[in-house]
Amino acid sequence: MANGVFEAARTILAVREFDERPVANDVLRRILEAGRYTASGRNGQPWHFVLVRDRERLRKLGSLVRTGGYTANAAAAVIVGYEKATGQYGISDTSRAIQTMLLTAWGEGVASNWTGFGGIEGVREEFGFPETYDVLAVLPFGYPRRKVAGKKKRKPVNEVMSAERFGEPFS
Ligand SMILES: Cc1cc2nc3c(=O)[nH]c(=O)nc-3n(C[C@H](O)[C@H](O)[C@H](O)COP(=O)(O)O)c2cc1C
Repeated sequence: MANGVFEAARTILAVREFDERPVANDVLRRILEAGRYTASGRNGQPWHFVLVRDRERLRKLGSLVRTGGYTANAAAAVIVGYEKATGQYGISDTSRAIQTMLLTAWGEGVASNWTGFGGIEGVREEFGFPETYDVLAVLPFGYPRRKVAGKKKRKPVNEVMSAERFGEPFS
């Protein structure tokens, strides 16, 4: 039986070009809900997600993401913040929520990418996050402009996986 979760993990790629089609609100809602359902250390849920759909705001957002200007052309974007005081746990929990959202989107045929992790300093204030939050990522969402048929570039199995002890061949 096909495992849809594995298939999403196997095929998902970073997409940076989107076509004009809007993403339906119920699809966007599911993507954010998937983030909200994510587990976190001590169930702390340190995240906050801001959904941006307004074109002018998307343009502004794109201008504030040094390595993600293409957010300006996305159908929507999610700004992902976390409570600064939660430190590395907050980053870990929120990264997990980001991956849940990206995979859920991919399962809907909606492409995305993680942008940020630095180079997004102006986003927090512009989009109204309190000072107690840091913005970890900006996730542009949309339908891919081109057919996504890329091949993943990943290290070979035995470089990143071992059996029983580090360095012992996996298979
Ligand atoms: C923590 C993190 C930060 C990233 N930051 C950016 C970014 O700022 N801009 C961007 O275009 N891609 C960014 N990416 C996407 C990666 O470059 C991309 O996932 C990687 O090159 C592998 O490509 P693939 O996802 O298509 O397999 C980021 C990915 C991660 C996980």
